[in-house]
Amino acid sequence: MIPFLDLGAAYRELKTEIDAAVSRVLASGWYIGGAEVTAFEEEWAEYCQAGHAIGTGNGLDALILALKACDIGPGDGVIVPSNTYIATWLAVSSVGGTIQPVEPDPETHNIDPARIAAAITPETRAIMPVHLYGQPVDLDPVLDLAKTHGLRVIEDAAQAHGARYKGKPVGAHGDAVCWSFYPGKNLGALGDGGAVTTDDPDIAARVRRLGNYGSGKKYYNAERGMNSRLDPVQAAVLRVKLAHLDAWNERRKEIVALYATGLRETALIRPAVPAWADPVWHLYVVRSAHRDELKNRLTDAGIGTLIHYPLPPHMQEAYSDLGIAPDELPVARQLADEVLSIPIGPHLDVASAQKVVNAIAL
Ligand SMILES: Cc1ncc(COP(=O)(O)O)c(C=O)c1O
Repeated sequence: MIPFLDLGAAYRELKTEIDAAVSRVLASGWYIGGAEVTAFEEEWAEYCQAGHAIGTGNGLDALILALKACDIGPGDGVIVPSNTYIATWLAVSSVGGTIQPVEPDPETHNIDPARIAAAITPETRAIMPVHLYGQPVDLDPVLDLAKTHGLRVIEDAAQAHGARYKGKPVGAHGDAVCWSFYPGKNLGALGDGGAVTTDDPDIAARVRRLGNYGSGKKYYNAERGMNSRLDPVQAAVLRVKLAHLDAWNERRKEIVALYATGLRETALIRPAVPAWADPVWHLYVVRSAHRDELKNRLTDAGIGTLIHYPLPPHMQEAYSDLGIAPDELPVARQLADEVLSIPIGPHLDVASAQKVVNAIAL
């Protein structure tokens, strides 16, 4: 049996350090904010080469807080990818913004910068690129468009811990960059967690205040905020895991190299990697016109696979009120019918990855 992802393996590898980190927080008597959270925020900002990092309760809240900190609110248009996890869209809806979907480049699965200009309207206030599956978006044309049209750029990097664009880590290209530390992410906590990174001290201060009831000074509230803070137990765990992130991302790359060679002769479409991209392979997503058949065959062979995602946001019941017909966003629709994520993770051994290749190539 080869599971899609073995989360327990990460814990077993670092059990001594993680147990010590959790015990340290429990013994400290300090359970909201404090030294562990501050230390992780500093370490994460440094890793991302960003001026500031602010811990949040989860990735969705990070997106909401970043939008609010950039003053995106009711009636403001936000360009989002049509092919993304629904959280990107939910964040825009949560602040009352208007969803302005843009189709992906099917080769990379990421938002196609060439299609963004046509989607910009007088209402548009922000672009929200998503570094999907760990592959960085082509940011330069996005940033150029934003500059020309006076738009904010809020990146959804929930799947891209450690990814680099033209050699520089994702983390502060746009106005704000949003992270999730959901357990299955490349840098995952033992529960929910998230962060915003930014080079802008005003956005950083605003995110911090908005995530703390709108309060910068205890019991004094400058604005109406929410409660969304990174838990110190999770911060302590993340500090342990951060030290291993690069090595774990390297292991993912080794598996992908094996997949890329092993699957070359098959009919599967493998993800394209532009020359400027250094992806971290949160997911390895292949495409097949006979996806369901392939998935069933791998299940029978004891190989776990997942579909990211079976239904694009515009076809979800939650967005039926937008009245976007399935074929209005045909690329996202087609990808949903064809994509399959095969096992990937820092603890997948080479022999298992080879078995995945052999089972697909049969
Ligand atoms: C692309 C993307 N955006 C946002 C999120 C939301 O993160 P969280 O689950 O921590 O709220 C996720 C992950 O779940 C995601 O994959």
